[in-house]
Amino acid sequence: MSLLLIATILTLYSRFTPGPLPFNVSRDSRWFTTQPSPITPSTCQPAENMVFIKTHKTGSTSLHCIFCRYGYANKLSFVFSTRNTKDGHIRKEHLNQSIILPPIGGFVNSSSKYNILTGHVSYKRKTINSFMEDNPIYVTILREPATHVESHMNFFSQRKQVMASMQAFLKKPRTSKNEAGRNNQLREFGLSFESTLNERIVNETIMTLDKEFDLVLILEYFDESLILLKHLLCWSFEDIIYLAQNQRTTRETITDTFRHNVYRWSNADYLFYNYFNRTLWEKIRQFGPRFEIELAHFRDLLKEHSKQMAL
Ligand SMILES: *[C@@H]1O[C@H](CO)[C@@H](O)[C@H](O)[C@H]1NC(C)=O
Ligand SMILES: *[C@@H]1O[C@H](CO)[C@@H](O)[C@H](O)[C@H]1NC(C)=O
Ligand SMILES: *[C@@H]1O[C@H](CO)[C@@H](O)[C@H](O)[C@H]1NC(C)=O
Ligand SMILES: *[C@@H]1O[C@H](CO)[C@@H](O)[C@H](O)[C@H]1NC(C)=O
Ligand SMILES: *[C@@H]1O[C@H](CO)[C@@H](O)[C@H](O)[C@H]1NC(C)=O
Repeated sequence: MSLLLIATILTLYSRFTPGPLPFNVSRDSRWFTTQPSPITPSTCQPAENMVFIKTHKTGSTSLHCIFCRYGYANKLSFVFSTRNTKDGHIRKEHLNQSIILPPIGGFVNSSSKYNILTGHVSYKRKTINSFMEDNPIYVTILREPATHVESHMNFFSQRKQVMASMQAFLKKPRTSKNEAGRNNQLREFGLSFESTLNERIVNETIMTLDKEFDLVLILEYFDESLILLKHLLCWSFEDIIYLAQNQRTTRETITDTFRHNVYRWSNADYLFYNYFNRTLWEKIRQFGPRFEIELAHFRDLLKEHSKQMAL
């Protein structure tokens, strides 16, 4: 039953059918039959305004679904594109009133705004904020650069180009061109290709993003990241349950040589990823011993959930 509910919500969402849902969903729903969480309920207020900058080939679809489900269940307004009539998702677009649907129950004007933005949108903070309710929480997700490049070159069928450009770079690092897959993660945050080759600019940008983002999740530590997200947003365990999305069944083996070459070739992404992997683990350390308890509980929930899905 619970699985049907989730499946239905996701289907409904993906078809983007506005209007009331045919059933009631609430945060404290009985979707899950496990014991209560080991943590006493806190007094914080669940966050309602959030911006998730979705990046390419970082496993961000699972996180996207988490935000969509939460927004649907809590009747929040989404920034949806009028151009993508399939599901309304924003894809690589500059935000502009003329291409987005009005928020629930309102028009786009100074007194009615959006709660959630989750999409491939160029990171222009001021523009984004002008569409959002006050003080949205900003999150994004990064992925280890070698697996990211591998995913990128297979998804976009650019294996040859990527390998050739990496080899050319290793021979003659100075002759750099705007190359597919190279430093793509940092470029999604508005840095030009040329700027990604300047380590001083790269480091400054990383520092700025560190100030501007409330949490940068790391794909390799997705469950850990979600525990931090749950606390940041004052959500429940049920809110962060997920099923892996968009996963390929075959992948190339990533050799140490390939990894090492990617780190040199895509060095801005390497610095970017390393920095936020470090801050993630620093946050986990600050969380204290409760972190392991929460993580274990969450993984039990995930196991139970996927068992139910398999029925
Ligand atoms: C949903 O909840 C509202 C308010 O609690 C109630 O009036 C309504 O009948 C419920 N609808 C369904 C389909 O259960
Ligand atoms: C928004 O998009 C419309 C139509 O594409 C365009 O005419 C307008 O100049 C854009 N506005 C901004 C602020 O970019
Ligand atoms: C904004 O939209 C609201 C809701 O439709 C409306 O009541 C209000 O008059 C609008 N404000 C402006 C400045 O247009
Ligand atoms: C950029 O940051 C890295 C990692 O902290 C550091 O090793 C490097 O020296 C910095 N580069 C510049 C130009 O500041
Ligand atoms: C991320 O950081 C942790 C803690 O410093 C480290 O053990 C781990 O190897 C790093 N992961 C990657 C993929 O670099």
